[in-house]
Amino acid sequence: MYRLIIGDNNLIMSGLIYKNIKYDIIYLDPPYGMHKINDVIYKDNLNEKNWEQFMRTRLKKTKNLLKKDGILFISINDVNFFTLLRLCENIFKNYNIKKLKWKKFLYTKRKIPYVNPDYEFVLVVSKNELKLIENINDDLTFSYDKSLIHKLGISKYFSYPKPSELFFNLIKFYFNKKTLKILDAFAGSGSSIFGFEQAKINGLIENYEIDFIQKNEIMKNKYKNSIDTLKNTLDIFEKEFKNETGYFSKEFRRIYK
Ligand SMILES: C[S@@+](CC[C@H](N)C(=O)[O-])C[C@H]1O[C@@H](n2cnc3c(N)ncnc32)[C@H](O)[C@@H]1O
Repeated sequence: MYRLIIGDNNLIMSGLIYKNIKYDIIYLDPPYGMHKINDVIYKDNLNEKNWEQFMRTRLKKTKNLLKKDGILFISINDVNFFTLLRLCENIFKNYNIKKLKWKKFLYTKRKIPYVNPDYEFVLVVSKNELKLIENINDDLTFSYDKSLIHKLGISKYFSYPKPSELFFNLIKFYFNKKTLKILDAFAGSGSSIFGFEQAKINGLIENYEIDFIQKNEIMKNKYKNSIDTLKNTLDIFEKEFKNETGYFSKEFRRIYK
């Protein structure tokens, strides 16, 4: 089951804290702070200082929303990797912080496989020491083209949705729980749900619930705004996996202002 909460995640996270809701997984995939080299369809225009402040505020709230054995995953590229790492080390003082490095495995138009040379990273933050894996020296590749989000056409109208394999593997590496309550606080195309569903289909988990947060913003694609884009993805998800039900809660923002 999923729930879409529309609005700025800073405000909404305060509401969730107020309601004392806690998550097993929190996934943050913020705009990477690439204001100068910007080829994405959503806004990514904060300069370095403002980006850091933007992340600091949200990371502090995230800390209050994690279960004791919960894990926070944050996606980032090499440009702001160290800024983010420093922020996490300051905010999550007695936590374990691990680094995953991965590349996209793709195919050319002529179906020749290749690996995108650009690395992406996931910072993994948790109080729980035992299970945390780090792979900063090994090459991890996640297939993008074989990913459900690509097969179902989602990459046509959202720039760089994360491959479903990424989420599937995060669960495989870090969890042996049967049910997961998940917060994806920068939903974007909502790609994470496809990876969690794959984890369920493959028996890694029995069930999961996702709260998506997405703010409404003008986008440079055919849907023109971020919420219609996301709803379209979730419609595709529901068609593909008919047993799932979603509900939309626009009132949340008003209730917890
Ligand atoms: C990097 S994208 C997420 C991509 C997503 N993980 C995927 O694979 O499709 C960042 C998203 O966060 C949204 N966003 C940016 N600032 C936000 C905020 N303050 N609150 C909620 N959503 C925000 C943007 O509109 C954009 O869709």
